[in-house]
Amino acid sequence: MANLNAPDLRRQPVSVTRKMSASLPRLRKLAHERGLKIHHLGAGYPHPEVTDPRDFLAHEAAYLAHLRAAEGLNDPDVLPEQQREAFSYGDTLGPQKTRETFARVYGNDWSLELDPECLVPTVGATGGISLACSVFEQSASPVAYITDAPTYAGFMARATLNQRAAIYSVEMDAEGPRPDMLARQIEQARADGYFVPFYYTIPDGHNPAGFSFSGARRQEILEIVRSHGILILEDAPYLYINFAEPAERQKPFVALDPKQTIHLFTGSKIGFPGPRVAYLYSEAELSIAEDESARFAELALVQASADILFPNPAAYQGFDALLHESDFSERKSLWPVAEEKLQIYRENREILISGFEAELGAHKDAFHWTEPDGGFFSVFTFLSGKVRTDDEFINDMVANFGLVVIPMYDFYPPDARARNVDAGFDQLRISFCFSESRGEQRRKDLAEAVSTFCRAAKEVAGL
Ligand SMILES: Cc1ncc(COP(=O)(O)O)c(C=O)c1O
Repeated sequence: MANLNAPDLRRQPVSVTRKMSASLPRLRKLAHERGLKIHHLGAGYPHPEVTDPRDFLAHEAAYLAHLRAAEGLNDPDVLPEQQREAFSYGDTLGPQKTRETFARVYGNDWSLELDPECLVPTVGATGGISLACSVFEQSASPVAYITDAPTYAGFMARATLNQRAAIYSVEMDAEGPRPDMLARQIEQARADGYFVPFYYTIPDGHNPAGFSFSGARRQEILEIVRSHGILILEDAPYLYINFAEPAERQKPFVALDPKQTIHLFTGSKIGFPGPRVAYLYSEAELSIAEDESARFAELALVQASADILFPNPAAYQGFDALLHESDFSERKSLWPVAEEKLQIYRENREILISGFEAELGAHKDAFHWTEPDGGFFSVFTFLSGKVRTDDEFINDMVANFGLVVIPMYDFYPPDARARNVDAGFDQLRISFCFSESRGEQRRKDLAEAVSTFCRAAKEVAGL
């Protein structure tokens, strides 16, 4: 043992999704021994059918050749500017051209004028969450974050790395967080002596809650955060994984009020997760001392340059290619990029929801499931009060039915579990984003998974 006394260090609890993937090989073996096929309704990864990079790599190579030609470089001995930039130390803000292009394309999609100087590159939305927390952790006061119950496990994991940070959570109904409770929790956290910088949420395709907030609720939330003087940290990985008709799509908070919002864009779901290209965007102004204010984007930039140094220039070069059409003109919109992925997710969502309806529709007194307008998940609830979706239940689902599903209880912050010890213990997060097969076989596999799940649900509920 190293001779280091580190009494204040804590071991972070292991998340349920990590525990699940650790125990999966053993459970998978058990299921195979019983002759069961494994059904994936648990993983939150993008589908392999939409993350084959080969077409993208060909497009990137052609785009770079085009840039090189535009530079007028025919001499193979001359290093093109694009290559020089991609392999050098870069600016903490990343390549300026890519930022400006992204600002135009994203701004066009959400009817807002983005200031490229307020776009800070981050390593995925994960990096954006971390950056936002890092900025406010510098405060002299202990920090409390407001979030939903349930909320994204990655946010809880990062927020609670700081031992002095607390989480105050807000229960949700079918439209979003309960406004009265949102206001109460901000006030309570302040009464308990905390500085409350933001409310963290995922308004579109909520992970894990499996729905998107209504337009009316977004307005109510905005009024509360404005009147209470806190920001919204808007995590938006599923903004384009959107199943609503174009006219019905809700606007993200950043489009409703960029001064009240720290918005996290990530290319992980619309593009590829590997390169982790992402941007934090905010026009918020903070008053940081008497008579002194600062832009949040500026504070984030200073923090980022100390924290993560520089974004990977080669990854941003690839992202720049993604922002251009096959004829190398600048895209007007990211929706056509999303549409390639949406075809798969839309189909999968339909298989899941229509399967639930066909096989469990007659038992709406026993089961409830969300019908997500975006994202990868539906939350499935056992209404009888007799089924407990704990770790043993989850293991039995794999061992007895070959079904991989994720329990919900771990997504409830500690205060939500203190309010209700059974929070989430009647729910599962069912994902429809991932399978190992493609095309017709993917459809068949998912339909079979859904059917097996419905059979299992009826069996465990005693129907
Ligand atoms: C709500 C939410 N935030 C963040 C992430 C991670 O995003 P990234 O891959 O960009 O780090 C995910 C991915 O699963 C997510 O569901």
